[in-house]
Amino acid sequence: MKIEACTYIIFGATGNLSRIKLIPALYHLDVENRLAKETKIVSLGRRAWDKEKWVSEVRAMLEEKARGGIDESVFNRFVERLHYHQGDMQQADCYTQLNVLLSDNQEFPQNMAFYLAINPSDFSSVIEQLSKPKLLDEEQFWRRVIIEKPFGTDLESARSLQNKISQYLREEQIYRIDHYLGKGMVQNVLVYRFANAMLEPLWNRNYIDHIQITHSEQLGIGSRAQYYDHTGAMRDMLQSHLLQLLTLVAMEPPVSLDAEDLRDEKVKVLKSIRPIPEEAVHAHAFRAQYAAGEINGEQVKGYAQEEGVSEGSVTETYAAMKLYVDNWRWRGVPFYMRTGKRMEKAQSTISICFRHAPTGLFRHTQAQKNTQNWLLLGIQPEECIRMEMTVKEPGLEMETRVVNLNASYRNDDEQASDAYEGLLLDVVQGDRSLFLRYDEVEYAWKIVDPIINKWAVDRDYIETYPAGSWGPNERRLFEKESQHWRNTLKEEK
Ligand code: BG6
Repeated sequence: MKIEACTYIIFGATGNLSRIKLIPALYHLDVENRLAKETKIVSLGRRAWDKEKWVSEVRAMLEEKARGGIDESVFNRFVERLHYHQGDMQQADCYTQLNVLLSDNQEFPQNMAFYLAINPSDFSSVIEQLSKPKLLDEEQFWRRVIIEKPFGTDLESARSLQNKISQYLREEQIYRIDHYLGKGMVQNVLVYRFANAMLEPLWNRNYIDHIQITHSEQLGIGSRAQYYDHTGAMRDMLQSHLLQLLTLVAMEPPVSLDAEDLRDEKVKVLKSIRPIPEEAVHAHAFRAQYAAGEINGEQVKGYAQEEGVSEGSVTETYAAMKLYVDNWRWRGVPFYMRTGKRMEKAQSTISICFRHAPTGLFRHTQAQKNTQNWLLLGIQPEECIRMEMTVKEPGLEMETRVVNLNASYRNDDEQASDAYEGLLLDVVQGDRSLFLRYDEVEYAWKIVDPIINKWAVDRDYIETYPAGSWGPNERRLFEKESQHWRNTLKEEK
């Protein structure tokens, strides 16, 4: 497919996201010849930098992130695309000057993608300001705006943000990013489910005992206290990335892969989730905060001691919840979700636990404890699909063990691309299937709002877990004795 030329304009270009993800992703697209020859990248920042300084900054970013090191010939081509535009996005003249710059249509393709890698509280004012010099008007060319998460901080603020920005943008121009949808293994959940007929008959409450979705990180909050202390794990990860994973696991097959068909099915899942009344929050959700501990042999601080965290903060760095999808396929199957920072291992996994075999045929033999089959989808760092089955051990006794049927998603010689690469390309191609439609965001807030509201008033105490552990030892979410958090992709003894 021919890739259209466009100008990417990055707000917040000197910030973390841009350094770690956006600039490297654009560079990798250039390596793969996925940027049109005329494509340009305008980076907006407050610092008084000239092009030379910006290029040296970009080089430093790529030295850390370019796969296989910087390719000098691609880098030279990439540098030709770069512009640094100094401006304060709070000031009106920033937009007047930007407009003057971009109106040079010999230099800048007039299809424009504005990437807002900025504080969410600035989204609506930046969009309003962009509309004034008509930078968002689509006459001959498209104008698209990519909005990072979180979209609002609860249902009410999401609605008000939507109301504001829809004064200046049509829904087709808005690309609400959830970078999890750009991950190879996340897209593989759909392929795995809908391109293989084998699992479909089992993919329901008749065969599945429960489903777990876990995202754990070893990292702490680093220098993000200003954002994180007001956000917490429920908003930062569960409301967005993990609920998106849930929709892909639970959705019905869409009519087509068209953005609207796909998103219609995801919304149906979100709408079917049983609301959690405020009095049930305790039974359905759990939060905690990391205390000092050890990660990979190194002592690390507790959250409360991190720079910028407010005194007595009860912001959760770990959050878990139990949801039920009240539809024909899933009624009665618990979905357990959890996320945490400073945990023992960094990984994202979807673990599907099947029911026990219906009879205890082997109970009078030496067979191991009555095991359940697990289907494990490793999202990262290991990308794999693994099925655990019970088999007889070799020998004269009837003894069993668990073996793994292991289907790796990627061969060792195949490179993974970063989620942002595909998503930045989708924006140019006008493909919104991996971006969130407004109603998805709204339903996701409806699900977590009762929990965050309750936690907002319970400000006296928060449980802690030592950094480097698997989080608090808390079982109240589980329905049955046999259920427990699955921490590893390896067979559990
Ligand atoms: C971001 C969150 O959206 O996702 C971060 O704000 C989190 O707190 C990150 O660390 C995790 O993404 P990934 O791709 O590293 O798993």
